[in-house]
Amino acid sequence: MTTLTILPSNTTFEAAPGATLFAALKAAGAAILSKCDGKGQCGACHVFVHEGRKGISKIQRAENDKLDTMVGVSSKSRLACQVVLGEDPVTVEVLSFV
Ligand code: FES
Repeated sequence: MTTLTILPSNTTFEAAPGATLFAALKAAGAAILSKCDGKGQCGACHVFVHEGRKGISKIQRAENDKLDTMVGVSSKSRLACQVVLGEDPVTVEVLSFV
């Protein structure tokens, strides 16, 4: 298991490596949205990964292309549905732009 810290509530949960960040956030009760059933197309699951970026799956072209079309994106931006958790602890900020 790995540790998932969710901001801004600063709550901590255990999550299974290999799970998507979206699934882990949902399981933790976070207010994460989806309008595309996790296909990386809607951008509703946009989060900032503050810590643990090296331990999660690397950004792929389709995710990067989608992020390029969105506002409020930073170098910490990821689409939670496209992130696969690893063994390292991760701290994410759940956004509510949509
Ligand atoms: S749920 Fe639509 S992009 Fe992640």
